[in-house]
Amino acid sequence: TYVVTDNCIRCKYTDCVEVCPVDCFYEGENFLVIHPDECIDCGVCEPECPANAIKPDTEPGLDMWLKLNADFATKWPNITVKRDPLPEAKEMDGVEGKYDKYFS
Ligand code: SF4
Ligand code: F3S
Repeated sequence: TYVVTDNCIRCKYTDCVEVCPVDCFYEGENFLVIHPDECIDCGVCEPECPANAIKPDTEPGLDMWLKLNADFATKWPNITVKRDPLPEAKEMDGVEGKYDKYFS
């Protein structure tokens, strides 16, 4: 599966949802997640994210993100249509450790 990682937080550009052939993105207030059981590993979303937040789970160090994606995907609503990025997207793009800073 592919996973949405830290840099999506407080950016939420949503370009990713438009290209996913199986509509497996789910939307929280501050970021999106991918449902790991629905993602078919096509990889088309990865280059579409302006924040480079989407990674294949074969990359090392993504255990926490895999878990987070799997967990929130069952709680948040599906999103299939692009919307405006969050107002602070530009400033927040590239800020390190957003999950730790804002959610713990
Ligand atoms: Fe959707 Fe393909 Fe991205 Fe998986 S890799 S989330 S199927 S676009
Ligand atoms: Fe997030 Fe990138 Fe999609 S910032 S909403 S994963 S396009």
